[in-house]
Amino acid sequence: MMQPWFEEAKLGIFIHWGIYAVQRRGGESWPFVRGEVSYDEYMTQFDGFTAKDYDPEAWAALIKRSGARYAVLTTKHHDGVALWPTQEEGPSIPARGHCDDLVGPYVEAIRNAGLHCGLYFSHTDWSQPEHFEIITQLSREDLEAAHQVKHNYIENWRRVDTEFAPGPDYEARWQRFLDFRQNQLRELLTEYGNIDLLWFDVMIGSHLHDYKSRELRDFIRELSPDTVINSRLEDYGDYETPEQFIPVQAPDGPWEFCVTTNNTWSYTGREEQYKSAFELLHMFCECLGMGGNMLLNIGPDEHGVIPPAQVQLLEEIGDWIQRNHEAVYGTRRGLPHGYAYGPSSFNEAGDVIYLYLSHLPRECTTVKGIHNQVKRVSLVHNGMECTQRRVGGADWIGVPGTLHIDLPTQDLDPQVTVLKIELEGPLDLYSGEGVEINVN
Ligand code: GLC
Repeated sequence: MMQPWFEEAKLGIFIHWGIYAVQRRGGESWPFVRGEVSYDEYMTQFDGFTAKDYDPEAWAALIKRSGARYAVLTTKHHDGVALWPTQEEGPSIPARGHCDDLVGPYVEAIRNAGLHCGLYFSHTDWSQPEHFEIITQLSREDLEAAHQVKHNYIENWRRVDTEFAPGPDYEARWQRFLDFRQNQLRELLTEYGNIDLLWFDVMIGSHLHDYKSRELRDFIRELSPDTVINSRLEDYGDYETPEQFIPVQAPDGPWEFCVTTNNTWSYTGREEQYKSAFELLHMFCECLGMGGNMLLNIGPDEHGVIPPAQVQLLEEIGDWIQRNHEAVYGTRRGLPHGYAYGPSSFNEAGDVIYLYLSHLPRECTTVKGIHNQVKRVSLVHNGMECTQRRVGGADWIGVPGTLHIDLPTQDLDPQVTVLKIELEGPLDLYSGEGVEINVN
């Protein structure tokens, strides 16, 4: 169920960590499904996944330092490899790798750092033969043979879309898979104390197969009523998750934009194609302006080391948030389009506008439509006051002038500069088309 902490948190850190870090292909679990490696070759990555440098306290400290207020760890991606010692019949790192439970220490460290704890869980599980057979419509023999060669399963399930023909035991086999999924979720929700957030992913074939999402939601509610659930549970989640694209129009209700620091979720060892801290902050401010959260991804390597470039990005973001925290936490979605150049947000009382300037104006920036008297305009990161004046308008007939704010040429924030516009009373906004002024 949605909890107030979620919308107040603003920034979360996504952690994609799994055996896919060993071969460094990118694309997490997708390489064997796309036919780039066989399933067996993919699974040899267990041997290289040592987690020997896994230091969940250090991870939690970095996440805290970034200004994020929650984290989400991939407990099981589509490859079906669990990071915890599942009792269910499915591959897990504790059973086949070099280390014990990876989820428990994460949960503990995250909680101890005062952060909210999220677990990612993929509905799709390509290690469950029944699930995979049903989705791809390959027989067990075909599937085993296909696992030995590079076989592109994606082609197959495209075909299935039009030709799906359930076998005689379909119902029973599908139910077995759903029971398996529910049992794994029970483990995650009962073994580690209260889990703040469940982040579901990818429900392949949901137009053909009934994933019983309402039943699953009810099951979670009963077991763990305070857990927030993302939208990837058909219509039964608590918030929307636009991915790699910031919405043009804010979705209704709570939402979270998830994004990579480079161009893939999993570790690749290549440090090119990173976004800069500025680019990420620019995106973050757009989310703030539309009342959404940003879930920024990191992908540790097979030993548990977070790539240095990602550490640096998180630190730079943390520095910016520290300087500008009042324009982050406790804010709500800001001015509609058309009033200002760039995103904005309001404080809780609605009498302060924060304007995020990632594009600096040549002289002044403007805000239209404010009826209120403006008490003061200043830069958030250093408190420096800015001169401002009203231009135009006709107050006596209810058309406010445009606020022109001069910006200093020095001492701007090295990333995104935030203006704080303090108003006399809660914002009173003009939304008309303007009129002829016939009384002056
Ligand atoms: C997509 C990808 C998946 C990734 C997820 C993160 O669903 O299939 O690999 O984990 O996005 O949002």
